[in-house]
Amino acid sequence: MSYPFEIHNQSSSSINEGRVGWRCPSNIAIVKYWGKHGRQLPRNASLSFTLSNAYTDTYISYRKNKNIGLGLSFLFENEPNKPFEDKIRSFLESVIEYFPVLGQLHLDISSSNSFPHSSGIASSASAMAAIAMCICEIDQQIAETESTQVDIKKVSYLARLGSGSASRSLVPLLGAWGEHDAIEGSSDLFAVDVSNVHDVFKTFHDDILIVSAAEKSVSSTAGHALMDGNIYSEARYKQANDRITQLKEILKSGDVDAFGKLAEDEAMTLHALMMCSDPSYVLMEPGTLDMIREIREFRQKTGTPIYFTLDAGPNIHLLYPDSVTKEAEDFVTKTLLPYTANGRVIKDKVGNGPQTLV
Ligand code: PMV
Repeated sequence: MSYPFEIHNQSSSSINEGRVGWRCPSNIAIVKYWGKHGRQLPRNASLSFTLSNAYTDTYISYRKNKNIGLGLSFLFENEPNKPFEDKIRSFLESVIEYFPVLGQLHLDISSSNSFPHSSGIASSASAMAAIAMCICEIDQQIAETESTQVDIKKVSYLARLGSGSASRSLVPLLGAWGEHDAIEGSSDLFAVDVSNVHDVFKTFHDDILIVSAAEKSVSSTAGHALMDGNIYSEARYKQANDRITQLKEILKSGDVDAFGKLAEDEAMTLHALMMCSDPSYVLMEPGTLDMIREIREFRQKTGTPIYFTLDAGPNIHLLYPDSVTKEAEDFVTKTLLPYTANGRVIKDKVGNGPQTLV
């Protein structure tokens, strides 16, 4: 099997101790990845904004393991967390083929989010991206390669194996994952950054309005799997790829209205696919629909370019250009906050990707 990156085969004598730390943001897909095959391969290309304020900080201290295999301890927000630890252990054990050194290390991992864990916003993208950055840096340090820069394609490949959408959190501004003619260098194996983007999209806002902090009734993993039996799936994969072509042009032209229409159509399609899965399920809440109605009415009445998208959950992502920040703030405070869970909003913006913490 050939890989699109170098595999380091370190000898156990080269293993020292060390500590790495990375802050990685979440991302919000405009064209959604929904449906997968093989080992975390997407059925269609997807494209997202990399965010900045919703992030995960992960530190890993490493040393040679005295016992055989991978040793691990895991703290989440400074507390032991067995379910997360088990998930991370099985993920790391599943990628030893790419990072043979992991089989000889003990890792003390400590992770925390900038947003409350119970806020209902997907944390797997930022969490998996941060772990992937740390693992690639450790691998690089032990290999003593000439370059100190980690290979972002390799990091994105690793993050994808943990959570598909995490692959896109590693690139600045806008990321695309999945092979597509309109995206230069694109691949099903890792995400790349999107070139030729109008400045208006480089400072776009995403206010995440929390409608419900409850755990999702159907996980993303189960949702992807249900696409296999969905009678609309083939049409959907084609539609998503066609929308990538359209979005690429829109991003270049700076047409905010066309962007907003496409973003909303994608959100509605994602949730329509859930509703017509077998079994059918609904992740939107009454507050989600109320906010959608309010956003559309406000836009029609005032002409202010404010749009929404949705993730696989009930929370509204309010998307708007920097030029209407004041109008958006007033609208959120006066009209949308009453529909949120205890006034919870995470004010986010397009961001620059991973930052080192050590
Ligand atoms: O990365 P996953 O397996 O949690 O899937 C995420 C899917 C969506 O968030 C709904 C869409 C996307 O492209 O991020």
